[in-house]
Amino acid sequence: MSAASTSVKIGDNSQEMPVKSGTVGPSVIDISKLYAQTGMFTYDPGFTSTAACESKITYIDGDEGVLLYRGFPIEQLAEHGDFLETCYLLLYGELPTAAQKSDFDYRVTRHTMVHDQMQRFFQGFRRDAHPMAVMVAAVGALSAFYHDSTDITDAHQRMIASMRMIAKVPTLAAMAYKYHIGQPFVYPLNELDYTSNFLRMCFAVPAEDYKVNQVLSRALDRIFILHADHEQNASTSTVRLAGSSGANPFACIAAGIACLWGPAHGGANEAALKMLEEIGHVDNIPKFIAKAKDKNDPFRLMGFGHRVYKNYDPRAKIMQKTAHEVLAELGIKDDPLLDIAIELERIALHDEYFIEKKLYPNVDFYSGITLKAMGFPTEMFTVLFAVARTVGWIAQWKEMIEDPSQKIGRPRQLYTGATRREYTTTAQRR
Ligand code: CMC
Repeated sequence: MSAASTSVKIGDNSQEMPVKSGTVGPSVIDISKLYAQTGMFTYDPGFTSTAACESKITYIDGDEGVLLYRGFPIEQLAEHGDFLETCYLLLYGELPTAAQKSDFDYRVTRHTMVHDQMQRFFQGFRRDAHPMAVMVAAVGALSAFYHDSTDITDAHQRMIASMRMIAKVPTLAAMAYKYHIGQPFVYPLNELDYTSNFLRMCFAVPAEDYKVNQVLSRALDRIFILHADHEQNASTSTVRLAGSSGANPFACIAAGIACLWGPAHGGANEAALKMLEEIGHVDNIPKFIAKAKDKNDPFRLMGFGHRVYKNYDPRAKIMQKTAHEVLAELGIKDDPLLDIAIELERIALHDEYFIEKKLYPNVDFYSGITLKAMGFPTEMFTVLFAVARTVGWIAQWKEMIEDPSQKIGRPRQLYTGATRREYTTTAQRR
């Protein structure tokens, strides 16, 4: 990282501010001394122009539609690698050798079972609870079960906690699903690969054999790769902020899951599919496009637009191809929802409003159709996102804890409330 500076004029004074440049992407003005030097804060709701940390994990160029994990393009990782290889890459910074990969796969696989008492924890929920509500609680509860990996000052414990979460979150996700539909929990089977194991835990029943469909397993594995990390998005920033206070990693990841749940973030895949169902027929598309464009109508086209990608979302391209592969494998020739999605995409991409605002389909636009075809109910979509993003959260959390300049995250504010006033008793109030 090279160092330079820039002069910023504030009132009559010029302040010299350090400028830091990364390996690629916009440089940043280091304003950490701004308050001490000028008595002023910066104001940036939504952090649209604020870099909150330095990171070596993921790079996005929103204008060019580029997404790199540790420098490797998402397209290459999704085409040639598998999800656990991506996990290794995000955690350790390099692609594994064959020996490192088999050792990593072995270690993750040996952590897939959860403490058996977790089952009783699940029984406390209503069956109709949203699986994301269960996930927030269950992942947070891991810190009550694995005390030997919550000391964040111990590098070994940090790594064990990381492996445990990558391994156990899919097991908890499958349990949340099984509980939701009233079926018995299915234990992990260590001879299977990560994603096949997850599919089996979701869809097998004790009463009959279950054979994993390798096309579906590969497709889901690719979906996991696409969702594994996305630099400082809302849930990752939540994990970092929670972790900055020294909270244990299980609690931090639970915070990330809570943030991911919102429809503007990970909840968008569920919302996108519900929207397609609500549209119901291609003939109704113009009505919904008009609603999305109406300033007085809060309706938005779910699965469209992105804070960072203003050209196209590279994940959406891969996702679209995966959707077609899955539908072909399952022999679904005429999926009305896919027809609506394709037509909606076509119309929106030619509409002046969407062109001008640079609103393109994002990864969630096609993932819902694919997951539905695989047999997942909409409530599980965001849970699957959480399974994949767990590794990104952990890699970012570890990077933060291991950064010597790390301090507690504590944003400031522009206060616009009442100035000091004196307390009155109820008898005095009017
Ligand atoms: N449909 C219609 N209009 C939209 C949409 C949309 N999906 N997205 C943005 N706009 C309009 C918005 O009304 C605003 O118009 P104006 O400038 O006239 O007020 C303009 O575009 C800019 O919108 P913004 O909300 O200021 O943009 P943002 O960068 O804060 O929001 C977003 C990004 C993803 C939250 C937003 O595009 C959105 O709500 N999309 C739908 C939800 C969605 O698909 N989210 C998944 C994101 S990808 C998965 C993930 O990483 O979590």
